[in-house]
Amino acid sequence: MNILDEKFAEFQKLPTEERIECFEKDGRLFDMIRSQQLNREIIDDIYGITNQLRQISKTKTGSLFVQDLLCHKQAMLWFTQPSSRTFLSFESACHMLGMKTSEIRDASVSSEIKGESHDDSLRTFSSYTDLIIIRHKGENIAERAAWLLNTQTNRPVPVINGGSGSDQHPTQALLDVYTLHRSFEDQGGLDGKTILMCGDLRRGRTVRSLSYLLKNFEDVEIIYAAPKAFQMKEDVCSFLERHKLPYHIETEALGNVLSKADAVYMTRIQDEHDEAAGDSDQVDISRFKLKPSDMSEVKSTAVIMHPFPRRDEIDVAIDSDPRAMYWRQERNGMWTRAALIAHIFDVHEEILNY
Ligand code: NCD
Repeated sequence: MNILDEKFAEFQKLPTEERIECFEKDGRLFDMIRSQQLNREIIDDIYGITNQLRQISKTKTGSLFVQDLLCHKQAMLWFTQPSSRTFLSFESACHMLGMKTSEIRDASVSSEIKGESHDDSLRTFSSYTDLIIIRHKGENIAERAAWLLNTQTNRPVPVINGGSGSDQHPTQALLDVYTLHRSFEDQGGLDGKTILMCGDLRRGRTVRSLSYLLKNFEDVEIIYAAPKAFQMKEDVCSFLERHKLPYHIETEALGNVLSKADAVYMTRIQDEHDEAAGDSDQVDISRFKLKPSDMSEVKSTAVIMHPFPRRDEIDVAIDSDPRAMYWRQERNGMWTRAALIAHIFDVHEEILNY
């Protein structure tokens, strides 16, 4: 343990509510590390920018206006864990705002392979860029990066967590909630809705971040549908209890709860995380897949979502059902991520006033 390890270990002993203060500056969001940082005011601001960006970008004049906003800034995408959507949507979001981007997608071509610590790599990246977006298999890498730059260096650049191990994926939650919010626009919004999450809830960072984010909405209920071995972890459940967000656990079959849901959020088995060889194969998940024949059980006003990639948990025959929202959800990722970056860099007023 070096001195930074010791200091970070001390920091991590603090309750989450205190830790997340380290990721604010002058009362504003600076880094985006955990869903718990987002309150309704920030969420509404980001969604307002998202809506406006979608409109403005329809014209060439509008796109050029947006591209001018952050054309003096550079972003670095440090993505050493596989990614298609998150990487591309962040890259597109940066380019939409005029930011130049650089990337490391393979640790074996960086100095990490020569034995450089993550801390030193981070400080190096921060020398050249104004924003660092991180996807990493380590649960604490993004949090440590933000902590390190904010408290141990004189070049604190914002850090965005693009997926940290099996812990959190806050920008996915942001785009998921935006998708829900838009889908329920004519049904009184997300307040009062029942969100069913299904699949590998134990190791799925998307469903964890989504659960935390839902605490910002009124009278929402969650149903967790998964075999016992893949059920939601205790830390998220006790968070929901503390925030009086009711949840129900279903361990037998998706079919038992499908008709209750306003949104069905499917996820794949996360066998890249904490897996002893073939562990997941021992669990019978056959009753937790969505088949075309199940669709008659799903409310006509409900939406089907998935963070993707999918394996076979949603049959492709469902893609043509108007309730399938996953392709739109994917595209919403680019808009909401651009809006988040605009919020962090404080150019939201310009966008809203365009
Ligand atoms: C998710 C992830 O990486 O956590 N994908 C994504 O970012 N859209 C979900 C997954 O990989 O299953």
